[in-house]
Amino acid sequence: MQLSPLQSRLAASLIATCLLLVIYVILLSPQFAFAVEFDPIVADHDVHELSYEELDVVDISDALDLRGPAYEPDFALFDRSIIGRVPDGATILANNELKKSNLAPGATMAYVFQASSVTSRAERDPNEPLELRRSLNESQAPAVDGDGDEDQNEDDGTTIKPELTRRNETSKTLWISANTCLQPGRRSSDKTAPNPPQLTLYVSTSSDNTSPGPQQSDNTQKAIVFTEGAVMFNTSIDKDVYLSISAPDVSTEKFDTSQEYNFELVASTDQYYYSFHGNHTDPDLVWVDSDASAALLQTGYLNNVSSQVITTPPYVMFAHNDNNVDINGLRNSYCGLSSYAQIRNLADGSSGAMTIGLKNGGEDNLTRQEFYVSGLNASSNYTAILARPPGKSLQTRQEESSTIGGGIVFQPAVFSTKPNGACTFIFNLTFCEQTQYAVPGNLNTFPNATALGNFYDDYVRSMWDNFDKVLQQTPCEAASTARYSLARGCEDCKTAYKRWLCSVAIPRCEDFSTPDRPYLQMRNIGSPFPNGTTVDEDILKKHAGNRAFNSSRNPKIDEVVQPGPYKELLPCENLCYELIQSCPASMGFSCPRPQSKFSFETSYGRKAWDDSLSCNYPGSAHFIGGAGMLSPSWAGLVGVIGILLTTILV
Ligand SMILES: *[C@@H]1O[C@H](CO)[C@@H](O)[C@H](O)[C@H]1NC(C)=O
Ligand SMILES: *[C@@H]1O[C@H](CO)[C@@H](O)[C@H](O)[C@H]1NC(C)=O
Ligand SMILES: *[C@@H]1O[C@H](CO)[C@@H](O)[C@H](O)[C@H]1NC(C)=O
Ligand SMILES: *[C@@H]1O[C@H](CO)[C@@H](O)[C@H](O)[C@H]1NC(C)=O
Ligand SMILES: *[C@@H]1O[C@H](CO)[C@@H](O)[C@H](O)[C@H]1NC(C)=O
Ligand SMILES: *[C@@H]1O[C@H](CO)[C@@H](O)[C@H](O)[C@H]1NC(C)=O
Ligand SMILES: *[C@@H]1O[C@H](CO)[C@@H](O)[C@H](O)[C@H]1NC(C)=O
Repeated sequence: MQLSPLQSRLAASLIATCLLLVIYVILLSPQFAFAVEFDPIVADHDVHELSYEELDVVDISDALDLRGPAYEPDFALFDRSIIGRVPDGATILANNELKKSNLAPGATMAYVFQASSVTSRAERDPNEPLELRRSLNESQAPAVDGDGDEDQNEDDGTTIKPELTRRNETSKTLWISANTCLQPGRRSSDKTAPNPPQLTLYVSTSSDNTSPGPQQSDNTQKAIVFTEGAVMFNTSIDKDVYLSISAPDVSTEKFDTSQEYNFELVASTDQYYYSFHGNHTDPDLVWVDSDASAALLQTGYLNNVSSQVITTPPYVMFAHNDNNVDINGLRNSYCGLSSYAQIRNLADGSSGAMTIGLKNGGEDNLTRQEFYVSGLNASSNYTAILARPPGKSLQTRQEESSTIGGGIVFQPAVFSTKPNGACTFIFNLTFCEQTQYAVPGNLNTFPNATALGNFYDDYVRSMWDNFDKVLQQTPCEAASTARYSLARGCEDCKTAYKRWLCSVAIPRCEDFSTPDRPYLQMRNIGSPFPNGTTVDEDILKKHAGNRAFNSSRNPKIDEVVQPGPYKELLPCENLCYELIQSCPASMGFSCPRPQSKFSFETSYGRKAWDDSLSCNYPGSAHFIGGAGMLSPSWAGLVGVIGILLTTILV
């Protein structure tokens, strides 16, 4: 078809107008375009059908308003059908559903967990073992009717496999747990002032008491007061379980009630969603060491054999200055600690001043989780609380795994920071990979702890290279007749030398102000402190002439780092004995005699009988009750040791 020139011009301008319209829509009303494309309610409003005028007047907000009805909850009808069956004001609690709510002082929040909700869920879920077994072996299936009457299973008991029985039993228990997330604030910051009163959980399984609470008699209900912001309760669910959380009346004189209580409640047929350990469990968290502003803490071993590789850190940690009372009353509450702890790392990865890692070590090369906390105040005491976040599936620990991972708050552990001074915490060295403690440092010469760590590590490596050259000339791996020992080989010698070298060449530092202990050796007392002052005259008079007091063990520290006076936590004597025992006699190692007061006493420490930290060794920490690191193998050797030999061994 041929167009006249006029028609072509009209066509061209129409096309241009349409293009402009399309560009207008795309560039200026993206939400509108989006709404038209995705909203099923306006799907028949095709964009091409809109006239030019309509496009002009329809603005974005109108277009968005069209979508309003689509956002109405889909569950309105479903909810209404159930509401008729529950007591007034009670909220239905579904299995494993987390309910979070504010609660004014004196108020009570009521819930109901319906027994029928569990069985109906099992029927719907084709993956339930019960259902699976029934479909595979119809003839053996116990006749479970639609209401899931459990008694019938027991009548058929002889034919039920143990797995099926256990499954039914566990699904009969309801695990109720709750955490206080927020509580009224204290008006007084006085440490002895009382904490805000705790919430109470009321539970009733009696149809005579469908709204348990402080007004009801305790014959028909159980009242459980929260302990440090948390509560755990288990009950059978043959019948509906009515429960409520009630907030006590709170004195407005003592507490700021503009902050209401806030709690989280979960009822689960699997296990407690939130749990905490009682008084008698140990914290499972160990303070390794700290300096004035940072500390390292570690968990116990996470695996039993090193082949069991752990990929993600399972725990989180909270830390709080003991001078601050904000976490009091919430120490068992994961939710409360997440809201109030000064230093926290949460399951969502936000961690502030905390670095988390997994570290292998120990004789069996097992894995621990470590927490490096920075930004602390000097000379302060802290409480650290280890926790496993809820809702995460488990990978390693003893607890049974299940569809939801139960959260656990462990017992608090304590640690403290050193005063501002010479000691600087180092970790993450590449050669001495087990070395993680405070060492003599100086913020002027080494403002950066990583650089200080590299200085010590490089020094140790150069010593190691010398040793390695000597060892290569020793017949370790030769035939057994030519070897220096049938029991020990070169690898043992290397291991023992490394353990000894890393502990001796990198002194473990305590501040000079630390009270004297037999295992703490003053070092470098002739030099001034960084602020220009010097060590007390009396001490100088007594010890300045003694090299063990007037310098560091390794003179390079005094030359390069210039830490000023400090105290060294001496290495454990058995590191030296193990070295002599493991290496060829031709290498000429020997340890100072314990009787030779001024070389042994200033060089090595001894393990304390009570297992407190009284000497330094690779992997040492403030273990309580002992970590069993020291092997007794050196015991018979003490009498055999020769004379002090090299300059390094002291
Ligand atoms: C069904 O049960 C019988 C009797 O216990 C058993 O021998 C058979 O192996 C079962 N079949 C299946 C498919 O589990
Ligand atoms: C369940 O509750 C009972 C008492 O109410 C208690 O003795 C028992 O230890 C609880 N079980 C668990 C696993 O907490
Ligand atoms: C737990 O320890 C605290 C303080 O050490 C004590 O007051 C409390 O009674 C203990 N609780 C239990 C259940 O032993
Ligand atoms: C320790 O185990 C880890 C894996 O878990 C491995 O990478 C490492 O090389 C092992 N170290 C030693 C000294 O065996
Ligand atoms: C450090 O001390 C200040 C002042 O006492 C205090 O406000 C702050 O919370 C403390 N910080 C930590 C992490 O302890
Ligand atoms: C440890 O050192 C390695 C490099 O050697 C570095 O990549 C890593 O970030 C360090 N880790 C920490 C926690 O500083
Ligand atoms: C102690 O050491 C300092 C510096 O390290 C030195 O100046 C002083 O002479 C030494 N004193 C003695 C008695 O050796």
